[in-house]
Amino acid sequence: MNLFEKQSSEFVSRHIGPDQTETNEMLATIGVASLDELIDKTIPSGIRLQKKLDIAEPISEFEYLTELKKIANKNKVFKSYIGQGYYDTITPSVILRNLFENPGWYTQYTPYQAEIAQGRLESLLNFQTMVSDLTALPIANASLLDEGTAAAEAMAMLFNHKNKDHDHITAGKFFVDKKIFEQTKEILATRAKPVGIELVFGDYKTTELDEKCFGAIVQYPNSEGSVEDYRNFIEKVHSVNAQVVMATDLLALTLLTPPGELGADVAVGSSQRFGVPMGFGGPHAAFFSTKDEFKRNIPGRIIGVSIDAQNNRALRMALQTREQHIRREKATSNICTAQALLANMAAMYAVYHGPEGLKEIAERITLLTQTLAEHLQESGYELVNKNYFDTITFKVNNREKLTEISQAHEMNFHFSSDNLVTISLDETTTKNDVLNIVSVFDSARDIDTSAVTFDNEADLNNIPDTLLRTSDFLQNPVFKKYHSETEMMRYLKTLENKDLSLTQSMIALGSCTMKLNAATELIPVSWTHFSRIHPFAPSTQTEGYDFIIEDLEKLLSIITGFAACSLQPNSGAQGEFAGLMAIRRYHESKNDTHRNVILIPISAHGTNPASAVMAGFKVVVTKCDEQGNIDIEDLKLQAEKNKDSLAGLMVTYPSTHGVFEEGIKEICDIVHNNGGLVYMDGANMNAQVGLTAPGFIGADVCHLNLHKTFAIPHGGGGPGMGPICVNEKLAPFLPGKNNEGTVSAAQYGSASILLISYAYIKMLGESGMKKATEYAILNANYMKARLKKYFKILFTGKAGTCAHEFIVDLRPFKNSAGIEAEDVAKRLMDYGFHAPTLSFPVAGTIMIEPTESENKQELDKFCDALISIYEEIKSVENGEADKKDNVLKNSPHTLSVVTADEWNHAYPRSKAAFPLDYVRENKFWPAVSRVNNTYGDRNLICTCEPVESYIEA
Ligand SMILES: Cc1ncc(COP(=O)(O)O)c(C=O)c1O
Repeated sequence: MNLFEKQSSEFVSRHIGPDQTETNEMLATIGVASLDELIDKTIPSGIRLQKKLDIAEPISEFEYLTELKKIANKNKVFKSYIGQGYYDTITPSVILRNLFENPGWYTQYTPYQAEIAQGRLESLLNFQTMVSDLTALPIANASLLDEGTAAAEAMAMLFNHKNKDHDHITAGKFFVDKKIFEQTKEILATRAKPVGIELVFGDYKTTELDEKCFGAIVQYPNSEGSVEDYRNFIEKVHSVNAQVVMATDLLALTLLTPPGELGADVAVGSSQRFGVPMGFGGPHAAFFSTKDEFKRNIPGRIIGVSIDAQNNRALRMALQTREQHIRREKATSNICTAQALLANMAAMYAVYHGPEGLKEIAERITLLTQTLAEHLQESGYELVNKNYFDTITFKVNNREKLTEISQAHEMNFHFSSDNLVTISLDETTTKNDVLNIVSVFDSARDIDTSAVTFDNEADLNNIPDTLLRTSDFLQNPVFKKYHSETEMMRYLKTLENKDLSLTQSMIALGSCTMKLNAATELIPVSWTHFSRIHPFAPSTQTEGYDFIIEDLEKLLSIITGFAACSLQPNSGAQGEFAGLMAIRRYHESKNDTHRNVILIPISAHGTNPASAVMAGFKVVVTKCDEQGNIDIEDLKLQAEKNKDSLAGLMVTYPSTHGVFEEGIKEICDIVHNNGGLVYMDGANMNAQVGLTAPGFIGADVCHLNLHKTFAIPHGGGGPGMGPICVNEKLAPFLPGKNNEGTVSAAQYGSASILLISYAYIKMLGESGMKKATEYAILNANYMKARLKKYFKILFTGKAGTCAHEFIVDLRPFKNSAGIEAEDVAKRLMDYGFHAPTLSFPVAGTIMIEPTESENKQELDKFCDALISIYEEIKSVENGEADKKDNVLKNSPHTLSVVTADEWNHAYPRSKAAFPLDYVRENKFWPAVSRVNNTYGDRNLICTCEPVESYIEA
């Protein structure tokens, strides 16, 4: 490589951990002569790509940013008055810098290990409290993917509640008011059909309902901006024993009577306008709140209050968090990754502004809206809505002219039809903006603009008294304390410091690929030309995005070996649903509507069966053999038995057991020969890129977790992106094609974070991505080689190697020493590490996935920690340590426990807190002792404690 080539590929060595010396040492430990030999031994020759991916060579970080700036500038940032669920907003700089752009927050994993996640758990609890307070419904979850899917989740929850037996639907109708957002209607349509829900569209004022109806949805304020009084409608719905979902707007609820007080059963919406940029559609956190009676049925993750081993308050994710893993095909929802980072941003926005601050923002907006409404009426435009918050709709007969002039003045409005224009104001709107809007509307009618006066004291008569909010909200101290920047900065830092993220140490989570999220990949996400673009902005303003999206679709198609790609699904599970719907629609197009069986191996991730059921399929589970491979005989048997109804197979590759199964091509053939299609779960794509590909192997469709393989950070439980790639056969059935199959509110899902994956591909190029895959496999095999002397490694391939992850069996220690996998996971915290994936896919094990981004030194530290834990277990086994009072059972050890005046344990404090020398250099203290899950589930509390509890304290 000459100096210039070296410069272009500089990012490759920044991304990949081990250098050449380390690589040689690691290969020697594994016992292979070269990386090539390791890969040849690991990946079956029959599925190895025979030629390089047709992807350009890498470019440097500097080159990339320079190029991207030019592309960004092709996007045009017009003033957006489009609304419809997306509003311009001001991200407080203190939140932008200390949270959104801070790896201490964005590289965290989902808070399954509660003791080292108290910071984000607290912030998510604030989010739930905020949603619960503003909607006046007692229980809220910690975010969903977007407003449209949240509405669909609400519909599904109410449907399941009413129709316990899906084979006998007693009430299958769901009423949809015609004035809810169009994108929500589309998602409801996709989700309703496969499970047998009948959508009834109409006007809530005139519709007739009967006992066949299980629920209804209305928008508050509605898509035209009207604030409607739904009290009578809600009573009507309740009178037929059905329930009401209200899609709503958190900012509006600071002024309006909240859904809970109107009698609604569920409230959903987006918290985007609480400081989260529009980003051409996302990511943003949707919210979901409901009545107590549904607390065991809420989709998504819920943070709850519990206690730790010292009886101190401690937070953790409540039981139903792992719904799909526990209940699989019986799960009520497939939600796994959600939008934690964005929920944290929205919560912090509320913490920063407080109840008064939020109300002031809302009042300012509504005052400007009223002023605008009055002036446009004076100019002769007919206002459609009598009561409104921030959105007004006018009848127009000059759409073309209005569009022409508004575009010239760099403003966007929303036309719901040729003669209806909707204008939504937001937090960024100034008096001057209002003047400019008036002037555009006047010019469109060829009249001179009269002076616009702003009366700061004007009576707000746009909201009727009967719908004015009278109840308090956000009275908890957390929403009152941090209003200065100093306080806010410190609060953010305090929470960040309680959480272990990639800034601290490796997070070796099998199946989750916690790799480097490079700064250069992330920086452009905050650029105005990407962040302030409305998802419904005219295409003439989104050339930059369009270029990247088109290129990324092509690149991902090449990488997966497929013909087409949809970037719409905004999580892996959403991708599964979209891919299965493509399979379903394909069979329907062949009149094979009877094909309704999906085979799923027992080792599959819980979202697989949950998604299959959502897509209307019947799940048939197939066996795995002793080596953890799919039992091909059983698969064949099931495929043949279900030959006439077989729709497809869902398979993860390399398997969730961390093995490149030799029989994968045969497996695909069996399914195809029996009339089915193959869905490949691409969660493990980090072991494939550049070496093999789902399309090449024989699959028909796969999803990719861009938040794993393609460097989007996990954000403490989201955002994510789950695009699907398909072959020619399925290309016509991608989401949104032929106006069907929409799965996300925005066309390109969480579009702004696509930039991260784009950067990853551009800066690694073909050779860098292939090398990344090889090193992911090298790192896993190196750790396996070191650990196998101490622990049983559960599954390996034919030549004894693993793929990019491997499973360590901890079950034997339960008998020998009474030590469980959880004890090992918690003890790792004392060594400064996050536990690997616990008890998936095999209970009582840990699954280690180091990724290519960690160097040998870090891998060694982790191995040393596990080996030291092994010695600790041995001490219990041979009686040197007490069976109950030992470092494992009492782990993790907090600073306050270790420094307490009293110490009654049979081992010294130093062993508890500093078990190896390296720990002293950079000790990470778990914030709480081991959390009591059972206590929390028995006493479910999912909001900040009421103010009274603080008074007593
Ligand atoms: C194998 C597998 N499939 C699917 C998923 C679901 O992806 P997501 O969490 O993005 O919905 C995961 C997530 O961890 C996974 O590991």
